[in-house]
Amino acid sequence: MVLAGAAHFVIENMGGLVRGIILHHYTSTMILITGAGGKTGRSLTAALSTVESVCAFVHREEHASLLKALGAKKVVLGDLRDLTAVREAIQGVRAIYHICPNMRPDEVEIGKLVINEAKNAGTEHFVHHSVLHPQIETMPHHWAKLRVEEMIFQSGIPFTILQPAPYMQNLQAGWKGITEEGVLRVPYAVDSKFSFVDLKDVAQAATIVLMEKDHKNAVYELAGTLPTTHREVAGMFSRALKREIRAEREEMETWKSRAAGLSAYAMENLIRMFEYYDAWGLAGNTKVLQWLLGKEPASLETFIEGMVRGN
Ligand SMILES: NC(=O)c1ccc[n+]([C@@H]2O[C@H](COP(=O)([O-])OP(=O)(O)OC[C@H]3O[C@@H](n4cnc5c(N)ncnc54)[C@H](OP(=O)(O)O)[C@@H]3O)[C@@H](O)[C@H]2O)c1
Repeated sequence: MVLAGAAHFVIENMGGLVRGIILHHYTSTMILITGAGGKTGRSLTAALSTVESVCAFVHREEHASLLKALGAKKVVLGDLRDLTAVREAIQGVRAIYHICPNMRPDEVEIGKLVINEAKNAGTEHFVHHSVLHPQIETMPHHWAKLRVEEMIFQSGIPFTILQPAPYMQNLQAGWKGITEEGVLRVPYAVDSKFSFVDLKDVAQAATIVLMEKDHKNAVYELAGTLPTTHREVAGMFSRALKREIRAEREEMETWKSRAAGLSAYAMENLIRMFEYYDAWGLAGNTKVLQWLLGKEPASLETFIEGMVRGN
């Protein structure tokens, strides 16, 4: 419930000045972040904890102290498929930021459980961490997010859906090949076009939609860059490292042998994702994120320069 006396703050916690967030005062202030132990949840916990109390739902004991150190006021240890654990975590929170763990065959079931419990508890605001273009049926982890979005619409809970582009941080996985061999390898066409987004901008946008009152019943695509090819990304690494880095397509069989430790579901989904990326890339538009943040989103060139400096 929103009470009178909204205040205007400027937050600087993400390394750059962002526009003031209109903070509203709620009777219950805590916000639950599910899937909080992963890279998305950690980034959001760090940003949101500067302005609001966070309850972090984590899967592993070692993540509890990590999330506390990032600012979480409360940590619930459990499994998102466990009704009792989810019910306990939702008690007393005013909003939920739902992050489904990556590549889950039961993403729709997990979403259903969290939405039902949110509805039963009278949660005021449900924010779903979705993905850019969940409409793509040939990518099951995108399609599952669309099904969850549909359940949210039909729950009657005021919602906001955020659909982030691939994170710039994903490029860190290729660092060894870039620095040791001078090659940025991807298992799809190096001229397919992608929009990228800095996870810090995603966390900032999430904080804004959770803290301002005007973002209910909205769906926002979060892309931080214009469509860019991996050949162009390799050029950015070349400039930042002051040596030639070339983009190269990795054969699927080579990728499969490197990815041998993945679950069968993750392996199959990633292959389908690479096939889609090969044909179509994943291109979005930066206007919505720019409007939400009140500033230009982080550029890929700047992010890569930061990577090279060791940030
Ligand atoms: N990466 C991108 O570019 C991108 C872009 C847009 C959207 N997304 C979406 O963002 C979401 C989060 O991705 P992420 O990379 O941040 O995830 P992540 O790093 O894989 O983190 C997921 C967290 O959830 C935990 N978890 C796993 N199974 C669980 C369960 N049954 N109950 C409770 N917690 C469980 C994991 O713990 P364990 O370590 O114990 O498994 C991990 O701490 C995904 O849905 C993804 O599709 C990603």
